[in-house]
Amino acid sequence: MNVQFDFSGRHAVVFGGTTGINLGIAQAFARAGARVTVASRKQANVDAAVATLGDGALGLVADVRDEASVASALAQAAATHGPIDVLVSGAAGNFLAEVNGMSSNAFKVVVDIDLIGSFHVARQAYAHLRKPGASIIFITAPQAVVAMPHQAHVGAAKAGVDQFARVLALEWGPAGVRVNAISPGPIQGTEGMQRLAPQIQDGDATLRAIVPLGRMGTTQDIAHLAMFLGSDAASYVSGAVIACDGGAQGMLTPMISGAIAAQAPAR
Ligand code: HXC
Ligand code: NAP
Repeated sequence: MNVQFDFSGRHAVVFGGTTGINLGIAQAFARAGARVTVASRKQANVDAAVATLGDGALGLVADVRDEASVASALAQAAATHGPIDVLVSGAAGNFLAEVNGMSSNAFKVVVDIDLIGSFHVARQAYAHLRKPGASIIFITAPQAVVAMPHQAHVGAAKAGVDQFARVLALEWGPAGVRVNAISPGPIQGTEGMQRLAPQIQDGDATLRAIVPLGRMGTTQDIAHLAMFLGSDAASYVSGAVIACDGGAQGMLTPMISGAIAAQAPAR
């Protein structure tokens, strides 16, 4: 598919940008000419990601749960590549667990990564954003608006991310900073789908029943939307939480329920 954006001279930073959907976003910005920085916890992931991003890409180890680590990564990113034009906050954690099978720490770890981590990333980036003109993109999930079993922690965290994005758009709009969120549907070949519904493959009848466009999404589908939101083409788009899900409108609950049924005997 020939979708072209030009981000030459611009700096894109992607937290959680070393694997999966977020790496796909970082790669798309790099191909479009941006100077790219990616950050996540594991050095091996950082090294592997940077090797795919072309000359000059910066990879940093940072844990979004640790505000000082986020601040340090952002300072290094800005010192290396200059003011940040596009900031993507996509770090996340997930596992299937019902509330009765979840400790307080298990619930908290997902909230800490997905929601508090998004706060750390945005709050610490503000000083480094190019103002006016910068754009923030949060990566949320359908669980924010659709109840799914064994996803209470993710649902709570991502619902918080959605509303955080909307409030931030109000507060930072006057400085010329746009804030949006992307809610991907089922994206093929990702850790998220492997953890949630590993038996679902592109072309399955269950999937076709859930997704009107009849296929799983690709990381490129999400990257295209991220590039649109980060570009001047979206200069009047802010405070939006946009699904990129083939029309599924969050109707993924049957898929998750099926995955759980396949893994555990009925009670
Ligand atoms: C119950 C669990 C559990 C499970 C972990 N815990 N897995 N509880 N069921 N399956 C509990 C642990 O026992 C512990 O609680 C607490 O969670 C923290 O676990 P740690 O392993 O110490 O945490 P940590 O090493 O920080 O790892 C964080 C993680 C891990 C979230 C648990 O899975 C991770 O790093 N994930 C990153 C990659 C990822 O999840 N990608 C998918 C994103 S997809 P106790 O009480 O024992 O201390 C996504 C949405 C997809 O976000 C939507 C698709 C439609
Ligand atoms: P993924 O490959 O596991 O991506 C998660 C990334 O976050 C990894 O690069 C991971 O790298 C990083 N990360 C995790 N914890 C971190 C922390 N504490 N600090 C910094 N980085 C951290 O999963 P994915 O499936 O591509 O999902 C990417 C995003 O899309 C997530 O926000 C997810 O909620 C969302 N999403 C996915 C789907 C789907 O179908 N897959 C659907 C809807 C929404 P390290 O391990 O190196 O830290």
